[in-house]
Amino acid sequence: MIKLDITQAQISAQEMAALESQAVAAQEALENGTCAGNDFLGWLHLPSTITAQFITEVQDCAERLRRNCDTIVVAGIGGSYLGARAVIEALNNSFQWLTNKGENPDILFAGNNIGEDYLYELTQYLRDRKFGVINISKSGTTTETALAFRLLKKQCEEQRGKEVARQVIVAITDARRGAARTTADKEGYTSFVIPDNVGGRFSVLTPVGLLPIAVAGFDITKLIQGAAAMEEATATGVPYEQNICMQYAAARNILYRNGKKIEIIANYQPKLHYISEWWKQLYGESEGKENKGIFPAAVDLTTDLHSMGQWIQEGERSIFETVLSIEEPEHKLLFPSDDENLDGLNFLAGKRVDQVNKMAELGTQLAHVDGGVPNLRISVPRLNEYYLGQLIYFFEKACGISGLILGVNPFNQPGVEAYKKNMFALLGKPGYEKETEAIQQRIR
Ligand code: PA5
Repeated sequence: MIKLDITQAQISAQEMAALESQAVAAQEALENGTCAGNDFLGWLHLPSTITAQFITEVQDCAERLRRNCDTIVVAGIGGSYLGARAVIEALNNSFQWLTNKGENPDILFAGNNIGEDYLYELTQYLRDRKFGVINISKSGTTTETALAFRLLKKQCEEQRGKEVARQVIVAITDARRGAARTTADKEGYTSFVIPDNVGGRFSVLTPVGLLPIAVAGFDITKLIQGAAAMEEATATGVPYEQNICMQYAAARNILYRNGKKIEIIANYQPKLHYISEWWKQLYGESEGKENKGIFPAAVDLTTDLHSMGQWIQEGERSIFETVLSIEEPEHKLLFPSDDENLDGLNFLAGKRVDQVNKMAELGTQLAHVDGGVPNLRISVPRLNEYYLGQLIYFFEKACGISGLILGVNPFNQPGVEAYKKNMFALLGKPGYEKETEAIQQRIR
């Protein structure tokens, strides 16, 4: 199992004990469905309730896309893409893009920005590709995703013909509502439903994450098994001291109350960059409300020790750090010996590169703790589907418990609407006339 170490968190046993009743109450409220946002708890028992038949349906669709496409564009934003991207990038060869010999389709992501150059360059790139599209939007009305989908649908139909396009465009959306549902039904696309009671950022283990991950060639059964193992390990009745979701949630709330307003997740493997991005969204959108919430930040180490290291070591003491450590890499590589030894590094010759990385990790942790940065450490035995499933469920459940301890509804995101309202008013969307007038006066 993945493990959590809070011995360097600069939290006393008494402080942890004092949070026990709140953590247990939060876990019970989740399990009993009595918490704020209880209409969005569908993710809680998803791993243990997904049926083999459902997995087969997802795999069959993935196979069809794999057979008919060399490239798949996943259109989605926020919770509708970050989980899939996090898992795919963590498991793929770092140079997949350059080394792919066609055994798996390339997975590209769109619909997560409004960058004109990005979209133009994407459509240019796709001109020579046999591409398909997975269009993911729960609301079915998100502008970024809808824009990308318009472009991709048109191009796919033009390049591959309407009949083939119908076979290689898949929709993942609400069962009834939204433009994505209407289009899918009208065009006859294969579609999957995002359950009503699962919010975007908690949806990795629904088709939102599972289909792109399966298309990329990874084993979604193992991913779900890992998540189910974590569901069991953190179930009702598991004592507070042994339940790592409660422990993580309690520790971060204690640190927050002690003035640590920023949590930096630090990984030591470039492949984990998007795991950090997914985590940032999960915690940021769940907890940042009512003028409360830890600000979730991320660094890729050791890379960012040469950019953010100074700040972490000696900047304002308002941060704590959560290290994401992979115990055993997939490959072995030794530090090379050099006859001239001009860099003076021959004392490392013959050691595993990972051993050097681990010493960098430990040395950094000690330095940061000495510098007044409490450290939490999550260790993951290997970077594979099974442990990523554990990690995903661990973070999701801990997030629910943590948000409830903080005193917010972790499952809504009312603040996300503010920019949309202004953007639509500025763009003159019908129905926004009053807002347009008000905003024109502000910016005049
Ligand atoms: O977590 C969330 O609910 C959000 O990040 C959504 O996933 C995001 O806004 C995309 O929404 P939709 O799937 O409706 O396009």
